[in-house]
Amino acid sequence: MISRPRSSRLCLGAALVAAALAGCAVSPGASLPRPLTAAGTPAPIGDGTGLAAAPGLGLLEGSGTRSRVDEHHHIHARWFTLEDEPAFGRGQEQAVDQEIAAFRALRERDSASAPPSELNISSAVTARSARMVGIRQTAYAVRDSSGSSAYRTLWYDREDRNTLDTRDLFASDRDWSAFGALVADDLAVDPDVFPDRAADPDPVLLDSVNFDAAGNALVEFDDGSVAPAAASPVVARVGSAALLPLLSDRGLAVRAAGMDPAGAASSAGPAQETARQDAAGPPVAGTVPSARRSPDCGHVKCIALTFEDGPGPETGRLLSILEEHDALATFFVVGPQIGRYGAELRQAVAAGHEIGNHGWSHRALTSMPAEQARRELGRTDDAIAAATGASSTLMRPPYGATSPEVNRLAHTPVALWDVDPLDWVHHDPDLVVDAVLRRAHPGAIVLLHGSAGTAESLPRILAGLGGRGYHFVTVSELLAPMDPEAQVAYTHGAAGK
Ligand code: NI
Repeated sequence: MISRPRSSRLCLGAALVAAALAGCAVSPGASLPRPLTAAGTPAPIGDGTGLAAAPGLGLLEGSGTRSRVDEHHHIHARWFTLEDEPAFGRGQEQAVDQEIAAFRALRERDSASAPPSELNISSAVTARSARMVGIRQTAYAVRDSSGSSAYRTLWYDREDRNTLDTRDLFASDRDWSAFGALVADDLAVDPDVFPDRAADPDPVLLDSVNFDAAGNALVEFDDGSVAPAAASPVVARVGSAALLPLLSDRGLAVRAAGMDPAGAASSAGPAQETARQDAAGPPVAGTVPSARRSPDCGHVKCIALTFEDGPGPETGRLLSILEEHDALATFFVVGPQIGRYGAELRQAVAAGHEIGNHGWSHRALTSMPAEQARRELGRTDDAIAAATGASSTLMRPPYGATSPEVNRLAHTPVALWDVDPLDWVHHDPDLVVDAVLRRAHPGAIVLLHGSAGTAESLPRILAGLGGRGYHFVTVSELLAPMDPEAQVAYTHGAAGK
């Protein structure tokens, strides 16, 4: 149901993230569509925290997240899955794949000397009821050193296991056109909106509709799509009375789910996020670390396995395998996952593994203002501390994209890698095992991701390298003979013997 082409979706002009965050362009005289934060900026419709940790979400038990990573093209995408409902994840994955394809097509037109581009797709729950779940995807893209956000909201109908887009919420083509006309009316009084777009908004642009508590529809537009990229974000509002007669049965169910703030994870702002993490409990007392003495990596063969982008659905499995082989590793974690998988992260800390900061949103720190990069790291540090009681002891910038300025933002050493088996490209356990065993050397830092395929490869990696006499250590243990310093980047450790 979401197969229509989306060629006009990525509007990557001269949009500025700062501008996108600066204010809210609602029609003069209209009531504000979103609650304002203390800073006067619109509160986000979804906050990027997840299903699993949200209170009262029994109907979504078994939820998880999946991600797709392409470090070379700086693409990172995350979406939700439900164990018992594969169609729920598939609909979102399909939307993610369309977004990535459109981005790659644009990227191919860039000259070889163009600065690195980035696509970061995050997902947030905006509504839920017994029948409907709303997922808002935010695609943040950077090209030519400027970033812009595009939004899309999908609805999942648990009754017939279908993923719905905006068109599916309307009973007929006539109702759908009438909705477009109402959106046009609201846009027409916004001085920022291009007159031609206001007169006839492209239906493709109406792909992110959410609802306020009164049942009014809020249509948010991608940066630069209906107004200059530097203008404030445009959100059109269609009043409840005009909207109701146009909605299909499914549209009415979606609206009801979106109106109920008690049911929506979107009501959880950063404060509630922290509260959830606080409620998750104190760190578990460790048993393994006290029984284990760090090997002297200046004198014995050591190697550090690192797992990025978690914690996630495979973290528990990774921990069990590592324990079976008496191996330690380092987990570079990203913000929203920390609250979702706090129990797994505490388990990792208790077992003696090291936790590093991988940024909040997995956006490249090199392509944002220093103050924003500082917030990305600070917020993640706070979440790690709240979830585990432990501090991050390393920083790894997303994609390994760093600079002297980014390194200076770290209060710890910066840990890169020198062995990349490309598990994020092929997801083939045999190839991962082969690449790691072939390229391993004393002092190596190995880049891995916490995917199911990588988890499958792990026992053979540990058995193969263990048989060659390697000690599996944390990155800090590996670096210890070099007296590592904060704000300095390391790609490998001491070579040992
Ligand atoms: Ni990563």
